[in-house]
Amino acid sequence: MASLPETSPVSVPALLAAKGRQRIAMLTAYDFPTAALLDAAGIDVLLVGDSLEMAVYGAESTLSATMDTMVRHARAVSRAAKRAIVVGDMPFLSYQAEPAEAVRNAGRFLSEGGCAAVKVEGGRRVLPAVEAILAADIPVMGHVGLTPQSYRKLGGFKVQGRDADSAREISEDAKALADAGCFALVLECVPSSLAAEITRSIPIPTIGIGAGAACDGQVLVFHDVVGLTPDLRPKFVRRYADLSSAITEAARSFVKDVRTGDYPSAEESFSDKAPLRRVY
Ligand code: KIV
Repeated sequence: MASLPETSPVSVPALLAAKGRQRIAMLTAYDFPTAALLDAAGIDVLLVGDSLEMAVYGAESTLSATMDTMVRHARAVSRAAKRAIVVGDMPFLSYQAEPAEAVRNAGRFLSEGGCAAVKVEGGRRVLPAVEAILAADIPVMGHVGLTPQSYRKLGGFKVQGRDADSAREISEDAKALADAGCFALVLECVPSSLAAEITRSIPIPTIGIGAGAACDGQVLVFHDVVGLTPDLRPKFVRRYADLSSAITEAARSFVKDVRTGDYPSAEESFSDKAPLRRVY
């Protein structure tokens, strides 16, 4: 009972309609070539996550991500996406201070970044921003559970919702975001039982990361999936490739070939005799 289009672009209504019919596959993407590969491989949602700040820029948290950086990477990803829907992640301080500022920043992801939607971390406490963004006809994906922008308050990157009170808070947040009109909800690092209960109780797709198998979809950080973060092994990550080894091996071979003079060969060099030809 598939519902997501196979070749035509995935839309917000198509994602909503996928709930209970087809599981949604979402990965982060931050650049054009990677986004093109992920899109062609059938990834439904490309999230230009603020995890960019850690995965690409080497920061210790996502807090230093800025709108300008996020929009620039969003534009690169959107240029590559033919089928996948591209979601821009609202960085820290781009939506918390004033709803009007949140709308302007969310709008930049659409007008400059080419995204179809934005993602906002937090539950009822960010509802004024979420409602204002939605009122500007900008689709919003919610994000509750472990919200990395709150890691200082949470005391680190820890599983959330393990006790009854915090589980109830997360459920209430999820319901409030769905009632407000969010089209999907990321559930990060919560017990599987809580994710299952939330997935049953709200009409929008839940997309889990460290939230078990009952969610309507799954999201992971691309760099974790392909082994570009070898020192980071969260329990919920499944590694599908070991690009760290492949890249190290390729770079070592290049060093060796340069040192020995094996690279470049005559075929990889220009002759003054050959007819004029394009370099690229
Ligand atoms: O920034 C990010 O990559 C995210 C995902 C982990 C959901 O928010």
